[in-house]
Amino acid sequence: MNIFKTTNILMVLLTNLLLVNFSCKKSIEKKQFTSSVSIQKKFYGKTKDNKEVFQFIMKNKLGMSVSIITYGGIITSWTAKNKKNKYEDIVLGYNCLEEYESRSPYFGALIGRYGNRIAKGKFVLDGKEYILDRNNGPNHLHGGLKGFDKVIWGAKEIIKDSTASLELRYLSKDGEEGYPGNLQVKVIYTLNNRDELAVNYEANTDKATIVNLTQHTYFNLSGNFDNDILDHELKINADSFLPVDTDLIPTGEIRKVKNTPFDFSFPKKIGFDIKNEDLQLKNGKGYDHCWVLNEQEKDFRFVASVFEEKSGRLLEIFSSEPGIQFYSGNFLDGTLPTKTKGNYKFRTGFCLETQHYPDSPNQPNFPSVKLDLGEIYSSKTLFRFSTKKN
Ligand code: GLA
Repeated sequence: MNIFKTTNILMVLLTNLLLVNFSCKKSIEKKQFTSSVSIQKKFYGKTKDNKEVFQFIMKNKLGMSVSIITYGGIITSWTAKNKKNKYEDIVLGYNCLEEYESRSPYFGALIGRYGNRIAKGKFVLDGKEYILDRNNGPNHLHGGLKGFDKVIWGAKEIIKDSTASLELRYLSKDGEEGYPGNLQVKVIYTLNNRDELAVNYEANTDKATIVNLTQHTYFNLSGNFDNDILDHELKINADSFLPVDTDLIPTGEIRKVKNTPFDFSFPKKIGFDIKNEDLQLKNGKGYDHCWVLNEQEKDFRFVASVFEEKSGRLLEIFSSEPGIQFYSGNFLDGTLPTKTKGNYKFRTGFCLETQHYPDSPNQPNFPSVKLDLGEIYSSKTLFRFSTKKN
């Protein structure tokens, strides 16, 4: 066989090999594309002012499903597996739009333009004072009377090989709720095949403003909303927290958690210290405080975990944010209806809201929440579910 012929045969073999590999790869990708994740769109209802609201149900191949509505970007249900591999709903919420519109304590919602409180509803930016609503006693809370939790978001589904995403967009106009600047906001929820939900936030403005976006899901990992959350074991990657006054405004002090009921640097039951005679627990009516997270120099790191022994469910949270508000459901009082029957009783849900510190615009020592023209606000949080024995 001459050298020319040998090279030719080798070339043909190689091309065939490449073709086979290429088509194999293609068919595998195609299979994943069509079968491993999905998003279903449904009409959810009409708001009081007659605007249509849609629900998007994202599912992964393991069995996790996350339902999100365009009103408030609210997660209305989210299933996670227990140790028997049964996927059950683990978030508080309602079963109709009317309830979300009329009396929701931010169940499952996106929060903005400023998550958490701003003292006396005012702040100064570049020498100018801005006045916001006082919708929480003397203070401003969670973006005001009509925060991002009560607006309708534009939605786009994005399906990739093994992730389902819902991209939500909202333009908050200059002056809305008293905030300066047209703020263009994008939030992307992404579900993957490892039972993880990522929440990516992005925003830009045409004038200096303040931004602090978060997600306000109430979890109950037992999957049974009759149970309170006091047996859940919480760990927070923080050595310090922010003490507050009786209106839940940080005093400015950054206090070490060591030897206080606020020490969750190792897994501890939420109920273990909650009844302590501690002034901070009294001010918060339980836990309703911001923890100053460790490793703030890292772009993204572990920030908290919660374990519920009976179901075996473990939730781990990762974030780029400097703080996390841990709220132990202290305002739930048995008056709000669950999705099935009965009412949400005291402390039947907890929130872990990754964010910048409360009242940052008025606290020069806290990390800045200012967003200037030309800058891009970007923040990321990831919720990972798994199970463990003990
Ligand atoms: C946040 C606040 C709480 C409470 C809830 C909603 O987590 O910190 O004080 O207002 O929202 O009820």
